Order: sequence, then C-alpha cells, then structure tokens
Amino acid sequence: MRVLVTGGAGYIGSHVVQMLVENNYDVVVYDNLSSGHRQAVHPDAKLIVGDLHDIPALQHVFSANNFDGILHFASRILVGESMQQPFSYLRDNIYTVINLLEAASMHNVKRFILSSTANLFDQPHRIPIDEDEPLIPGSIYGETKFIAERLLAWMDNLYEIKCCCLRYFNACGAHPHGHIGEAHDPESHLIPLVLQVALGQRDAIHIYGTDYDTPDGACIRDYIHVQDLARAHILALEALEDGCSRVYNLGSGSGYSVREVIDAARRVTRHPIPAIEAPRRAGDLPILVADSAKITRELGWEARFNSLERIIQTAWNWHRRHPHGYQS
Ligand SMILES: NC(=O)c1ccc[n+]([C@@H]2O[C@H](COP(=O)([O-])OP(=O)(O)OC[C@H]3O[C@@H](n4cnc5c(N)ncnc54)[C@H](O)[C@@H]3O)[C@@H](O)[C@H]2O)c1
Repeated sequence: MRVLVTGGAGYIGSHVVQMLVENNYDVVVYDNLSSGHRQAVHPDAKLIVGDLHDIPALQHVFSANNFDGILHFASRILVGESMQQPFSYLRDNIYTVINLLEAASMHNVKRFILSSTANLFDQPHRIPIDEDEPLIPGSIYGETKFIAERLLAWMDNLYEIKCCCLRYFNACGAHPHGHIGEAHDPESHLIPLVLQVALGQRDAIHIYGTDYDTPDGACIRDYIHVQDLARAHILALEALEDGCSRVYNLGSGSGYSVREVIDAARRVTRHPIPAIEAPRRAGDLPILVADSAKITRELGWEARFNSLERIIQTAWNWHRRHPHGYQS
C-alpha cells in the first residue's frame, strides 16, 4: 500500500512514518519543513519538500504516485497563536485541506486519516469525553479542524472518500530508541517544558492554578504517547477498508495533574525541577480527558504507554540525547 503522509517530518508524523515503514507501507512524505525536520524522516520513506498551498506541486505528487491513502498531519498547531493570527491559521489549515482533498478526489484516493484535535470539546458535559459530545471548538485552531472534519464528511458524500478523524489532547513521549522525538520551537507542551528545566535550559516550571476542584488542586490533562498515536493512525487506515467513515476520541481515560507530571519528571530525571505556583490562566478547564472506549471496542486499540513515568522516560531519553532537538 502506498500512502501519502503530509507533515511526516513533524513530531507525530515522523513516528507514524517510521511505524508505517516497519509495517511495509510504501511511504511518501510531503512537508514544507516549516516546523518539521528532514532528519526526522525515516530513510526508507521518500521525502518531498513542498507546501500544501502549492497546487501544481501537489498535483504533480499525486500524478507521480498512485496513493491508496492519505494521513494528514500538516498543520499549524498552536492554540494561543491561532487566536492572535486567525487569518493565517484559517488560510494555512483550511486552504491546504481543500487543496489536498481536491487532489485526492481527482486522483481517486479513497482513504483519508485526519489528525484532528480534542480542542473541539471546549465545554464538555461529561468527563471523560466521548464521541457523542457536542463539537464546540475552543479556538481558531480547533475551528480549522472542525471545518476539516465537515469537509471530509462531504467528500465521503460526493466522492466516497472514506475518512477517519482522530481527536486527542496532548501527544507526548518519543520513540523508545531515542532517535526521533518532540522538537517544537517555540515549545508549548508541558512535558518537554518540564524536561527543559531538568536540562538547565529554563529555571523553573509554572503551575497555573492550584485551587481547581481536583485532588491536588492543579489541572488534569490527558497525555497520549506518540507511539500509541502512531498505532491508532495505522489501525484507523486499515479499518477504512470496510468502506465506513468514522471518528474516534483517543485518550488515557484518566489523565494526570500538572503536579503529577512534574513529580514523575523529578523521579525520572533525578533533578529537583523547581515549580512556581501561579494564578489560573483564563479559559483553562479543571479536567480534560478523552474516552477511548469506542476505538478499543471497534479496533482493539488501547494505550500501551499507560504509565506516566514510562512516557516521561522515553521523552527524557530523546531530550537528553538531543538537548537542542535535531540540531544537537
Ligand atoms: N502535538 C499534539 O499534542 C497534537 C494534539 C492533537 C492533534 N495534533 C495534530 O497532529 C498533527 C501533527 O502535530 P505535531 O505536533 O506533529 O506538529 P508538527 O508541527 O511537529 O508537525 C506538523 C508538520 O507539518 C508540516 N507543515 C505545516 N504546514 C505545512 C504546509 N502548508 N505544507 C506542508 N507541510 C506543512 C510542518 O513542517 C511539520 O513537519 C497536527 O495536525 C496537529 O493538529 C497534535
């Protein structure tokens, strides 16, 4: 099976690419390297450096390859930035999906996996959040994923392009071999920020809000290991062979508090990791955790990295060896 992985040089995409290669897929990565890294792409995958805004280049890639499926990771991903630069996010995350879908429809590609987001659930009624929860995007970034999901429903209707949308909160960890991992600049995710303290790259980590209605007063969030995500994407791709589009939420089901993450990182790194308690941030909900029961039931997927220490150990393994990311 030959697949196109957009954003395959990025954090999650590069782990998925490696797993696809290991499972004998023929992989073409299309990435503009705006936040991705050439070195992150498995040598057995073909990297094409190109932008999804570039319609002729994209059409050329589709004409030259007979793709059986698409896994779409290429996106701008910062929630806060999307509220400051709404139009560039709308352009970069929606026009690109339109270009990709048009190419898929013209070249008869019938399977599409969207790396969506749990930022679609801004005011959840129930925790953990399941697929019946109403979709209320929490930001312009979330809105772009919401629109992408809606467009995919139309593509199924018009062209029988079957899709699977995977919604999740915080991807984390790194490949257990430590050769690929998270390298975002700027970094906004908690685990790499905590590990930057252990590496001496930042003085302390802030805990925003210590009076939430949670066991230790700090926010609880869902962390899902990037290898578990990679497996979910491949299972979803294979499941589309039955000709049914679907959506799944992916999560740990329970989540961890900010304090628990910092404590686990202290144990793993043996560094004191000073923490500074700070006021709540506007808009932060006390608990955000997704329910994976549906994908477990239908595809047999379960998170294998279900211990926080093990997750952080893989991230630490990567960051310690690559303190400056792929430039190290
Ligand atoms: N990281 C998370 O915690 C998380 C959580 C939920 C969903 N997601 C989704 O997963 C996907 C991947 O996230 P990530 O953390 O790996 O991000 P990332 O920034 O590491 O990877 C995105 C990749 O897309 C490429 N790209 C961006 N715009 C492009 C364009 N116009 N044309 C070609 N390539 C382009 C970048 O160079 C980069 O390699 C995104 O769609 C994101 O919305 C991520």
